[in-house]
Amino acid sequence: MLAAICLPVFALTMPNARAEPTVEVLHYWTSGGEAKAASALKKDFEGHGGKWIDSPVAGGGGSAAMTVLRSRVLSGDAPTAVQLKSPAILEWAEQGALANLDDVATKEHWNDILPKRLQTLMQYDGHYVAVPVNIHRTDMIWANPELLASVGAGDVPKSWDEFNTLAEKLQAKGVIPLALGGQPWQEVILFENVVLGIGGTEFYQKALIDLDEEALKSDTMKKVFDEMRILRGFVDADFSGRDWNLTTAMVMNGKAAMQIMGDWAKGEFLAAGKVPGKDFLCVSTPSKDGYLFNTDSFAMFEVSGDDKVAGQKLLAELIVGEKFQETFNLLKGSIPARLGVPMDKFDECALQSEKDMQASQGSDGFLPSVGVDMALPGALTGAIVDTVTSHFNSDMSSDDAVSKLLENIELARD
Ligand code: GAL
Repeated sequence: MLAAICLPVFALTMPNARAEPTVEVLHYWTSGGEAKAASALKKDFEGHGGKWIDSPVAGGGGSAAMTVLRSRVLSGDAPTAVQLKSPAILEWAEQGALANLDDVATKEHWNDILPKRLQTLMQYDGHYVAVPVNIHRTDMIWANPELLASVGAGDVPKSWDEFNTLAEKLQAKGVIPLALGGQPWQEVILFENVVLGIGGTEFYQKALIDLDEEALKSDTMKKVFDEMRILRGFVDADFSGRDWNLTTAMVMNGKAAMQIMGDWAKGEFLAAGKVPGKDFLCVSTPSKDGYLFNTDSFAMFEVSGDDKVAGQKLLAELIVGEKFQETFNLLKGSIPARLGVPMDKFDECALQSEKDMQASQGSDGFLPSVGVDMALPGALTGAIVDTVTSHFNSDMSSDDAVSKLLENIELARD
């Protein structure tokens, strides 16, 4: 009786002590591999006494999730934690929508355990507003070894010319050479790989990051669109609108020989029980020393309620935890964002990624992916995406594509 009377008083006077850390997590990890990785995060959070409210929004690349996010924030109902990329993090932070994570960062020594480059991406105005989960790369070919062997190719191509020759051989045998999901962001992943392969790292930086006019209208950019036209000839008739994971399944099931996609594709192969080096090959796309990176991160939105604030802090703390970084990235196909995580359980694709990532640091080759929104503010990414997809899905000439690219970028700048 006494307890029954006392309890509400206690609850009213000591809200902090009783707040159950709670997060509502808006994310777009809904494919087989992604869902496994997301549930590892949920499990870790719940295992530490938190309450997880799952808000997945299906749609690879996340544009559907970003639309939901905008409408939620506009209606004053921001989710507590959101899977967000660094340019979008800045845009939301500028609007004052994000919570400050400096106290967790200091307590957990983020300045010592995160790579410098990622520290910057997670900050706004010198303050932490997001927390990194992983490092993915988008410059990868996922290949079916049997199909390659069927045309006598033991190796994945080392240049775009070699790629074209191999693809022609496969096509002559009735095999779909290139598995592509015809959604704009997937077409841009293909495009950025061609930019890197044909132009090199310096050109990639100038054209796609600095948006340098000379680079954008150069002959090199025209060659990139020429190659995109050639690649268009290597995809199957049903490519339009196809999801990336269904596209990965085509390589897995022997329907197509190669997919060019970020290493979340590995998460799909692994979730289906496939073994790297045996059932599938992972090789970086033709380029000298480039590494197109994509870091997933969570930004915490400014919300009120002790339970939610406690949830945000707990989630941020757990995400950079060493054990979590290992478990999550083994499932997701990426490598840890945290420095010094043991790599002994990681497979050959991840070890190669780690090696290439390190090498790219010394050569200016560590470059952000445009296709998955790492490189530019939304409007400018949109300008590139629109151009690439209109060119790919029409008979637009390379000259016209270059003019359109300049025009769209100019419009997006205004
Ligand atoms: C990217 C995201 C990856 C992966 C992919 C496909 O934007 O960074 O983690 O999930 O989309 O949905």
